[in-house]
Amino acid sequence: MKRLAATVAIILILLPAAALAQPTVADLEVLIDSLIDAMTVEEKLGQLTQYRGEWGTTGPVAQAGGEDQIRAGHAGSFLSMYGAEYTRKLQKIAVEESRMGIPLLFAQDVIHGFRTTFPVPIAEAGTFDPAAIEHAARIAAIEASAAGVHWTFAPMVDIARDPRWGRIVEGSGEDPYLGSVMAVAKVRGFQGSDLTASNTLLATAKHFVAYGGAEGGRDYNTVDISERTLREIYLPPFRAAVDAGVGSVMGAFNEIGGIPLHAHEYLINGLLRGEWGWDGIFVSDYTGILELIPHGVAANRTEAGVLGIKAGVDVDMVSEIYLKDLPAAVEDGRVDIALVNQAVRRVLDAKYKLGLFDDPYRYSDPEREKALLLHPDHIAASRDVARKAIVLLKNEGQTLPLSKDLKKIAVIGPLADHARATLGGWSSPGRAEDAVAILPGIRNAVSDSTEVVFAKGSEIEDRDMSGFEEAVAAADDADAVVLVLGEHHDMSAEALNRTDIGLPGVQRELAEVIISLGKPTVVVLMNGRPLAIPWLADHAPAILETWFLGVQMGNAVADVIFGDYNPGGKLPASFPVNVGQIPLYYNHKNTGRPPSPTDKYTSKYMDAPWTPLYPFGYGLSYTTFTFTDVTVTPDKSPLSENSPITVSATITNTGDRTGDEVVQVYIQDVTASVTRPVKELKRFQRITLEPGASRTLTFTLTQDDLEFYGLDMIPTVEHGLFKVFVGSSSVDVTEVQFELTNE
Ligand code: NOJ
Repeated sequence: MKRLAATVAIILILLPAAALAQPTVADLEVLIDSLIDAMTVEEKLGQLTQYRGEWGTTGPVAQAGGEDQIRAGHAGSFLSMYGAEYTRKLQKIAVEESRMGIPLLFAQDVIHGFRTTFPVPIAEAGTFDPAAIEHAARIAAIEASAAGVHWTFAPMVDIARDPRWGRIVEGSGEDPYLGSVMAVAKVRGFQGSDLTASNTLLATAKHFVAYGGAEGGRDYNTVDISERTLREIYLPPFRAAVDAGVGSVMGAFNEIGGIPLHAHEYLINGLLRGEWGWDGIFVSDYTGILELIPHGVAANRTEAGVLGIKAGVDVDMVSEIYLKDLPAAVEDGRVDIALVNQAVRRVLDAKYKLGLFDDPYRYSDPEREKALLLHPDHIAASRDVARKAIVLLKNEGQTLPLSKDLKKIAVIGPLADHARATLGGWSSPGRAEDAVAILPGIRNAVSDSTEVVFAKGSEIEDRDMSGFEEAVAAADDADAVVLVLGEHHDMSAEALNRTDIGLPGVQRELAEVIISLGKPTVVVLMNGRPLAIPWLADHAPAILETWFLGVQMGNAVADVIFGDYNPGGKLPASFPVNVGQIPLYYNHKNTGRPPSPTDKYTSKYMDAPWTPLYPFGYGLSYTTFTFTDVTVTPDKSPLSENSPITVSATITNTGDRTGDEVVQVYIQDVTASVTRPVKELKRFQRITLEPGASRTLTFTLTQDDLEFYGLDMIPTVEHGLFKVFVGSSSVDVTEVQFELTNE
């Protein structure tokens, strides 16, 4: 070790050995205090600076000049950085060549799997199976950590009520309760039960907050919502992630009511750290600090940096404002060094908890990387989640499942043989060569005597119809047609917003000519957002919503098409009839004039229904289920007693196949001092039942579940009538009631 590079080593030697393995709060404080005391202002601000990784010839490399910044002690972390060998090399520079010898953090957007890509998050949410999703995040952490990654920028917990917004694909959809359950599952999966283990990732709940509320569904756009909507809709998944111990939170690009989130002292320092008592790393989004200038709240870089650090943003991603422009502000007293120290403390604290002071190389392990990436168990888990995520939207005359012994199956459509698309957005370092597209998945599944023919029909987006003829010829003498339609994988995710959310290009026209042949036709949809597909809903015999399901997509879809797996996924977001209905969500208010078909002066449209094409929580099965004996007990209880409310229902599989049902429990607080949604999801459980089998499920609600923000914005429960809805979607429900009496 050179120069003062031994600093960390010396401090560590002074600590008792046991402190390194099992840090106590006191040990941690001693180490961090000594480091902070020994650091220059620039070294401190360096710890708060996150540089970019760039794509080299074979993988990520540090941005130009990055290695020198590490040597100078001006780098705390890198984003978009992975690869055991290369991260080891950078870590060595930090530990051996920088004055303080503090290890780096390597961050990556590990969003839905690492090399083994899992279904995109909106699809994962549709499994309504938090255990499976926790397992998926665990596997992602096992792979990514072996490749040198310490820190993931996931889960994205933004509630999205507008499918025009491309980032709806990255979250859990429109519901705060489902979003909270999935947020907890992912935080647990990424961080494991003990962050000091070398196969865990520091998780990041993002984007704080209300990023999904962008006006017009236009990414980065202004958000202007009430405090009630903020607290009841957008904040709950963040609160759930915080309660689950999330180590980091990322700021959102938007403003709320005139205050950009990267300068929002009230929401970051006040609510998140103060009210909720959270003390992890708050990281800016990419150039989020710099963007305070175009937002119009900072005149220059220094002002932007001052606003950011004062608001509570600890790490400056990419802007390099903290490093380059804050020293002057510290010097002239605009920024108290105590603020900087506090942010540095949070970064060092995470490095310590990840075990990097003990062994800076523990994550960058070429052997582990080789053994674990694309491990067969991981691939099997990806297929399991993929099958669980598939939603059966329509199945007229039991078109599905198809027999594996048909003589000829025509597979048609621009996405049918598109391996890259199966991975969806945010899927680096996934590779198309690892992925099974739908066409090969079908070929893998059918009998030897089945002929599978393929015709693309059209491209995804252009208007060329010259391939229709070949597609019609392929379908003409087929016994069944699988028509794979939808969006390109880069038509959703960041900055990928659409005003027309129908099928792109001429795919609707392709569907018309193929479906008009009258064959048993199954439409398989691949897309990153709810689509407006009323024509398909009317005319296609069967429709499967499959989103982007990851490396095993083709096999998972074939499992469902041929009945090896009975679909049981549900929609985590409403599908509108047309774009004009947006925003559209199941947990809306009743209004003073709820829509009525017979009364003109009610809240509806002249030219479209007010209801969705497919509602939240919806999804069919190859079997049928009944819900009986739906009860709530007691039906009256005094508000003051805070006694539990028990909801129960018996679910019976009345068909002839084993299948899954997601049992959903919603409530409505009928009359309160402020208006309440017509329904709010409070519990759910996915169960598997064999033909003829019944199961009685019991859910317990406490008064916390009935709470809302009162007139004074203080959480409250009020007496009165509550409706409880139990069923298989937000619409298909049985209603019971109970009353909280005023005693
Ligand atoms: C910008 C995105 O908004 C954010 O979600 C992501 O984590 C960062 N870039 C880093 O890639």
